[in-house]
Amino acid sequence: MEKTIDEAIQGSTLQTENKNINKRNLYIESYGCAMNFSDSEIVASILATEGFNTTQNLNDADLVLVNTCSIRDKAEQTIRKRLTEYNKVKKTRPHLKVGVLGCMAERIKDKLLDEEKIVDMVVGPDAYKDLPNLIKEVDSGRDAVNVILSKDETYGDVAPIRLNSNGVTAFVSITRGCDNMCTFCVVPFTRGRERSRDPHSILEEINELWQKGYKEITLLGQNVDSYLWYGGGLKKDFEKASEMQKATAITFSNLLEMAALAQPKMRIRFSTSNPQDMTLDVIKVMAKYNNICNHIHLPVQSGSNRILSEMNRLHTIEEYFKLIDDIREILPDCAISQDIISGFPTETEEDHKATLKTLDYVKYDFGYMYAYSERPGTMAGRKMKDDVPESVKKRRLSEIIALQREHCRYRTEKHLGKVQEVLIEGPSKKSDQQWMGRNSQSTVVVFPKEKYQIGDFVNVKINDCTSATLIGEAIGHSPNN
Ligand code: SAH
Ligand code: F3S
Repeated sequence: MEKTIDEAIQGSTLQTENKNINKRNLYIESYGCAMNFSDSEIVASILATEGFNTTQNLNDADLVLVNTCSIRDKAEQTIRKRLTEYNKVKKTRPHLKVGVLGCMAERIKDKLLDEEKIVDMVVGPDAYKDLPNLIKEVDSGRDAVNVILSKDETYGDVAPIRLNSNGVTAFVSITRGCDNMCTFCVVPFTRGRERSRDPHSILEEINELWQKGYKEITLLGQNVDSYLWYGGGLKKDFEKASEMQKATAITFSNLLEMAALAQPKMRIRFSTSNPQDMTLDVIKVMAKYNNICNHIHLPVQSGSNRILSEMNRLHTIEEYFKLIDDIREILPDCAISQDIISGFPTETEEDHKATLKTLDYVKYDFGYMYAYSERPGTMAGRKMKDDVPESVKKRRLSEIIALQREHCRYRTEKHLGKVQEVLIEGPSKKSDQQWMGRNSQSTVVVFPKEKYQIGDFVNVKINDCTSATLIGEAIGHSPNN
């Protein structure tokens, strides 16, 4: 789910219908995971009611909000550099205010406000509803901070304003926070405890998106399989719920089925699945409904049982393989993608080989691969020495990436000669004569535009491919239109 920083930098334009006279312009820039992009849409919505229009032009901005990512050191460095650039802009335009949102706000608030004095406002991921008050503070010349993490905030009652949208695909967040405590990961510290959003508000959002012409949604959470609604409250407090609450609780497979039934023509995707929480019910629901896409993002992180245990991933590699076998049996056409970390503390050559063996076993359709980056405050950061030399991490990473590239090609070639339903998302990056869309497995497909339109479901005959892209020709609308 993670995007590169280059891909991630983006401003957003939108003309809201708010006719407030005190209109101000908000320039919002998002980094990191899909959840941050989704959160920026919540922030735009909260501020629209305060008279803020979003703009894509920094020169028009009265307020810049940077929605930040702390997942790896490099992400933070890039954002800090960006913040110092804003600081320079502020010197020439003193009325411009700059706020930091997201994970860095939570993690290094004091540095941003005190030591480096580069921002006016610091707002953590659970405090966006406080933005109107915080902006008033800033307007009256004071720094404003709210980084309080919440037990129940899910923003279920905020209708996101879609930013930079293709009008076809949208994210719908279903959980916030994470209780898993993988030893390398900063997310539980920056986004707090796991809580699930009221299914009714999720279904309402899906129905509204359909009415507005959207054709595909991705249900978002750090660990979607752990979704659990029992009337509100933290996942960890479920044990204390009443018998009635327990009996009527909604799990992720229930929610997925509800979503598939609510809009039978809408494509449903979800991300991310944690192997230790993914159950067969979910895979069975996927098999039952045509509109649930055949793709599971199933991060493995490492193929070595010893490293998995050091990472506090609560499954063995054998259990992971069993899950893969079950998925292949129930959903033979399902794409599977991965996240992998190379060079976790104490990782040996043998552990690394076990990761390569895992790649060979699964032959993932695609993946996101990273060198380990020590995060202060995490269990690994506190207790383990970052002892794999950078050069070794990088070499192992490039071996993993090279093997994954072979598997991408292997999987992509399997689509050749088939007719597949593609949802058109927009023009292809390479040619404005071609459409770009995705098949159910989430592989990118390009084909000549002909009479088809953005948002159409089209049957495409796949004639050719590169390692990551399918090339085809449309043979007609699919019955889903
Ligand atoms: N469950 C989350 C995972 C968030 S982090 C989700 O929704 O995707 C995304 C990925 O970043 C992780 O799966 C992991 O592979 C990688 N990652 C997290 N912390 C890292 C670290 N300290 N160093 C390197 N990679 C890391
Ligand atoms: Fe991070 Fe593990 Fe949660 S990777 S987001 S602690 S599932």
